[in-house]
Amino acid sequence: MKEKFYITTPIYYVNDKPHIGHAYTSIACDVLARFMRLDGRKVKFLSGTDEHGQKVEQTAAKLNTTPQKLADENSEHFRELLKTLNISNDDFIRTTEERHKQGAQAFWKVLQKSGYIYSGKYSGWYSVRDEAYYQESELVNGKAPTGADVEWVEEPSYFFKLSAFQDSLLEFYEKNPNFIAPESRRNEVIAFVKSGLKDLSISRTTFKWGIPVPGDEKHVMYVWLDALANYLTALGYPFKTEFWPADLHMVGKDILRFHAVYWPAFLMAADIDPPLRIFAHGWWTNEGQKISKSLGNVIDPNELVATYGLDQTRYFLMREIPFGNDGDFSREKMVTRINADLANNIGNLAQRVLSMINKNCDGIVPEFHFEESDKKLLSFAFVQADKIRNEIIYDQHFSRALELIGQIATRANEHIDSNAPWKLKKENPERMKSVLYTLAECLRRIGLLLQPFVPDAAAKLLDQLAIPADHRLFHTVGAGSALRPGTKLPAPEGLFPRWEEKKPL
Ligand code: MSP
Repeated sequence: MKEKFYITTPIYYVNDKPHIGHAYTSIACDVLARFMRLDGRKVKFLSGTDEHGQKVEQTAAKLNTTPQKLADENSEHFRELLKTLNISNDDFIRTTEERHKQGAQAFWKVLQKSGYIYSGKYSGWYSVRDEAYYQESELVNGKAPTGADVEWVEEPSYFFKLSAFQDSLLEFYEKNPNFIAPESRRNEVIAFVKSGLKDLSISRTTFKWGIPVPGDEKHVMYVWLDALANYLTALGYPFKTEFWPADLHMVGKDILRFHAVYWPAFLMAADIDPPLRIFAHGWWTNEGQKISKSLGNVIDPNELVATYGLDQTRYFLMREIPFGNDGDFSREKMVTRINADLANNIGNLAQRVLSMINKNCDGIVPEFHFEESDKKLLSFAFVQADKIRNEIIYDQHFSRALELIGQIATRANEHIDSNAPWKLKKENPERMKSVLYTLAECLRRIGLLLQPFVPDAAAKLLDQLAIPADHRLFHTVGAGSALRPGTKLPAPEGLFPRWEEKKPL
């Protein structure tokens, strides 16, 4: 039986169009999903849209449309973005779908039956932008700690007995040290839970756009309870839960509390296993500035792809900063990555090796007799592959994994320079063949490892090495699946063009 891997993106709010943050989370999940498939796992990769709540209702009213129309339109934008970014999700759930509504109501009933829901009255602060309740003590200058406006809310409400889970949650974090990543975030969550949990209002009565509370239709479910349930309803809950528990919920740091505190508590109350891990990534700024609509500096991921290229955009976002940290987007940093890492290092290596094989070996994978330095390079590539696997599987350390792949290319480029195969052509053609073979085999390993990050370019590279589609899983990285001398290669093509600044006319 193949080991399963269930990974999810957050479901995106449909009050607005997608921006770089949405692209970032989706690409990170896609890299993991592809990585795990290539590693031989049975993967379920879920994304979708979060369509209910006051924020969507208010935005629709402002735009003179209905919440459903707004949701239909923006959900489609998210779906299209996933296609544009080459995201390999297996499912896309919308919280307005029947399968979700029924599943979420079934989940409510289970919580109710287990005795963790009671009715009362909520009076306190609420932020529509964050769709979150805040304590008076959390406010900063009359605003939410996120900077969002808050309003005073007083209404009848159902509550979830979150306070009953304080000890179980702390015990759970203790027993599962890898549940929250990165470490610094884990400590924040533990401190928050230790400071005391209040019961959570889980229904609203002052607006309509939500899933009706079963048995009391004056209430709609609190949008976060509705939204979190998507991770189960998409599997077919309450009838089917194959793939549960989720192996990883990927989220931004702003929504960690919902995933690492409320969600496991709801699940414990429903007697369902909590997910195995929550990774909270950081936030992007634009040329040093916080990204916001009012500043007008929102980055449209479609534009990034149109300007710099799809694989270039994916590469930049995964390579530029250690996953978990905040990062800054700038045109200059993007261009530097494209030219230094992709064009000059990996692209140049492929170009040099494949065109020399094309010219000097009739485009056929040459015979070889390894020297020590050849073996050393190939075993370096092999060892790096193992390290990369650990970085991704245990730490989701994308930038480090790409750095390790880059190191293989750097060494391979050095191997070209120190062996100067263009000189060997006359002086020692046998040696030239061995050097080119070694380098081509090195490229094969690089191509395999690049697949999750830059799927199109990696496929192109592997095509140029005539690697059949069924020989591209990670277990083929070793010598047992090495290139066969005598294999005819197609004509080489550029992989990663250099970025040239367009001069004004
Ligand atoms: N609907 C909720 C999630 C519900 S999951 C059950 C939500 N949606 S969102 O559309 O506002 O945000 C989606 C993701 O985008 C979040 O993980 C958030 O952290 C991320 N980002 C929003 N702005 C961002 C940046 N500037 N940089 C990186 N990620 C950011 O929250």
